[in-house]
Amino acid sequence: MQVYPHVEIDGQKRLVIGGIEASKLARKFGTPLYVYSEDAIVDRMREYVLTMRDLYPFGHVAYASKAYLTLRMAQLVAEEGLWLDVVSGGELFIAMKGGFPPERIIFHGNNKTFEELEMAVAAGVGRIVIDSLDEIKRIERVAAQKKRRQDVLLRLTPGIDAHTHKALATGEIDSKFGIPMHQNQHVQAALMVLQAPHLNFLGVHCHIGSQIFETAPFAMAVKTMLNFIFEFQKRTGILISELDLGGGLGVPYTEEEPELGVKPYLEVITSTLLSESERFGLPPLRLFVEPGRSIVAQAGVTLYRVGTVKELPNGTVVAAVDGGMADNPRPMLYGAKYRAILVTGGRDRSPRPVRIVGRNCEEGDTLIEEAWLPPLRPGDILAVLVTGAYQYSMSSNYNALPRPAVVHVRDGQALLVVEREKYADLILRQRLVTPVKSMNSTNAKSASF
Ligand code: LLP
Repeated sequence: MQVYPHVEIDGQKRLVIGGIEASKLARKFGTPLYVYSEDAIVDRMREYVLTMRDLYPFGHVAYASKAYLTLRMAQLVAEEGLWLDVVSGGELFIAMKGGFPPERIIFHGNNKTFEELEMAVAAGVGRIVIDSLDEIKRIERVAAQKKRRQDVLLRLTPGIDAHTHKALATGEIDSKFGIPMHQNQHVQAALMVLQAPHLNFLGVHCHIGSQIFETAPFAMAVKTMLNFIFEFQKRTGILISELDLGGGLGVPYTEEEPELGVKPYLEVITSTLLSESERFGLPPLRLFVEPGRSIVAQAGVTLYRVGTVKELPNGTVVAAVDGGMADNPRPMLYGAKYRAILVTGGRDRSPRPVRIVGRNCEEGDTLIEEAWLPPLRPGDILAVLVTGAYQYSMSSNYNALPRPAVVHVRDGQALLVVEREKYADLILRQRLVTPVKSMNSTNAKSASF
């Protein structure tokens, strides 16, 4: 039975990821373990690219690397011909080390540093997305210094409620991102970009939020942006030729959650774009979408080993696994729901409710409030499904827990993509320092500088 593409439960009720039994992966690489089906990632990228090609030949797909980025992932995205969205010098560094062509990189961020801008301009990134009036001047200065003319987009905030978690909504007028489409601020910003000699103004960007399941907010975003493009052309005679709509397609994490799907998502965007362009008499714009979550979420599974099982005085059974909020902070940050499957044993036991908790020293470190599983025993291996997006990339070393390894499975072969951290990694950047002893504070001061 297929649970998600390339994630299956076989005839003997064993969980199989990309053709390999999950229990074998846990034995070979240890737990906790992030496992990805590469075939699932690649299939989803191809679905995006081919659907876009069918619906709108002037469209491009940029993978939002914040969802999950490793050298191997950068390599896969490059091979599949997508563009890449990065939001920091660090993501840019990983992408380039993974061999990603800089001309297909879109550089985002609401507060990029000078060093990052210098790095991006020097690398020759395809687009820098300007997020504020301050940044117009900053990028102009950097591009002038480097004697480059940098292609840029302007991020606008359209004032759209995407009906998602508050922490994931970025389209509202008071968002920290972008330039509000309010009282002409955006028009002024566009004119400033046009006047900057080292900036090549190609288009506008908006990202209304993440984990969105409705089509209406996307249609509204297209309409709002096209209306601006039309008005701007009427006023200045200048045609804005690119529209980047960000990401945001929602992904179901449990069986109860709805699914929108790549095709309906791209259909609403491209059909609205076509009809609005016709209405305004605009030529077809170059379109970008920037999906992150919907490319990697379902391709990932996290494997844990059950350690302690307790029954609380109120009757709740709690099973603690060897990971938790350090490798998956999403339940605590967003109240995110997950689904778990017992990988080993328990086939003869009937399901009962159990709370799956992590091993971090926080009472709130619960991965799943109520999972229905056969009674768990120490040593059982659990798989938490749909953990491919914003887990590894948001993981921490809280409680000095070394980060798990990352394994990709492709054509029945397991590839170790990131090694498990060791205790020594935890102190790699630390120094055991000893203050210099001195007779008085003046000496102490001079000794420390
Ligand atoms: N483009 C821009 C400019 C973005 O800010 C984002 C996500 C994306 C694209 C990709 O959106 P997606 O297709 O993945 O929804 N940590 C949160 C998600 C934060 C998303 C931030 N921006 C989570 O774990 O749910």
